[in-house]
Amino acid sequence: MNIAVIGGGYVGVTTSVAFAHSGHRVYLVDNNPHKLAHLSNAQLPFYEEGVKALLQTHVDSGNLTITDDLTATLHHSSIVFITVGTPSQANGQADLSFVNAVARQIGQTMQNEQTIVIKSTVPVGTGKRVKEIIAMELTRRNVDIPFEIVSNPEFLREGKALYDALYPNRIVIGYDSKKAKAVMEQLYNDTNDSILFTSINNAEMIKYASNAFLATKISFVNELARLCERVDADITVVTEGMGQDKRISPLFLQAGVGYGGSCFPKDLQALQQIGQKYGTPMTILQAVENVNHTQVNWFLDKVSQRLGSLHNKHITLLGLAFKPGTDDIRSAPSILVISQLLAQEVQVTVYDPQATSHIKKRFPTIHCATTPLEALHDAHAAILVTEWPEIVNIDWKQAKSFMKESNLFDGRNALSPHYMKQLGFHYEGVGIHG
Ligand SMILES: NC(=O)c1ccc[n+]([C@@H]2O[C@H](COP(=O)([O-])OP(=O)(O)OC[C@H]3O[C@@H](n4cnc5c(N)ncnc54)[C@H](O)[C@@H]3O)[C@@H](O)[C@H]2O)c1
Repeated sequence: MNIAVIGGGYVGVTTSVAFAHSGHRVYLVDNNPHKLAHLSNAQLPFYEEGVKALLQTHVDSGNLTITDDLTATLHHSSIVFITVGTPSQANGQADLSFVNAVARQIGQTMQNEQTIVIKSTVPVGTGKRVKEIIAMELTRRNVDIPFEIVSNPEFLREGKALYDALYPNRIVIGYDSKKAKAVMEQLYNDTNDSILFTSINNAEMIKYASNAFLATKISFVNELARLCERVDADITVVTEGMGQDKRISPLFLQAGVGYGGSCFPKDLQALQQIGQKYGTPMTILQAVENVNHTQVNWFLDKVSQRLGSLHNKHITLLGLAFKPGTDDIRSAPSILVISQLLAQEVQVTVYDPQATSHIKKRFPTIHCATTPLEALHDAHAAILVTEWPEIVNIDWKQAKSFMKESNLFDGRNALSPHYMKQLGFHYEGVGIHG
């Protein structure tokens, strides 16, 4: 099929590459000249394992065209995916200006029948609104071109984006006409994965509900971890026991310094705003956010209690990205950790295999090391913030010999407390300090 993808960010690029890989002819449209220049040379504006190589392959093969020409693209395509950003506004509502602008552009320029698929994460009712905008533009042009609206929310995980796009673990399709359903069935006809066909409103809600529930699991466990420390229990064992119950599942039960990234914080805010708009306050989500907002400070209290005044102390952060496998630092806990340490005049050194260039723009005074051992040189304490394999698998014996004081604070419970203590570290994790 001939597919247009509008918005060349994490989701748009990965989606385009995956469709091209499945044999479709894909046109990826972005309006940011800087991004376009990168993508046209098969350079990614972000780090995501495997995507760059496949982008290069399909740009070279001619299966994937990178362009800023939406009009020509619509002429070539019959399915249009909208993958532009939906960031938070100051009040927490999803900013739909990019989605609405694309809808207007489609209505102003389309010449042939289109199925318009919203992949961006959008509040319930957006599909209906996009339909109205396009219909309004067609009326203004005095033309009658048929079009369908579909909601197909994206569930890919950064760090595993390509795998998830190629082998999605579920596909949700919201539609309101037989024609739209038939187009989507044809598009996904070679997938073995389960497809849920439902209404557009349901599909829009499923995306927010999923992210909100995962964030809830994390905050629940983080709050439980605080209690575990008080009652001399170990959160890793408690969650292991909980996870053995199939109804609970062991996934997303790892205690740590909190969630971050481009989705959970903004989607939680957006769902709360939707609740407010419809007179149904999302009280659980307020608590989820509250735990997450206070988790970094709760963890940093351990550092202060151990080191006393942090003034002029040298502290190393191991990991900056909001999770391993990505260079994304949007709303990453590392940002709050660094801000809090700098406020106490700590000398901060950081190491991350992919994200240091982004953090340097935000905090120009911090020292960015190129290896974990260099980062740990002369440190009074290390804080593990992101559990990259290259951090977890440091030669910790050697690391200890590089440090001024052997204080190790594991913000992801990624290391063996027993082994670290055996090596002579003063080790503290999250909810496991008896
Ligand atoms: N990043 C994720 O892991 C993830 C996962 C699932 C869902 N989502 C959702 O997918 C959507 C996109 O997320 P992202 O992280 O890819 O966003 P992003 O900000 O990385 O990328 C959006 C892109 O859209 C482009 N754009 C904006 N307006 C445009 C226009 N009029 N024409 C052409 N291009 C335009 C921007 O230049 C940018 O390159 C969001 O709604 C997000 O919530 C993201």
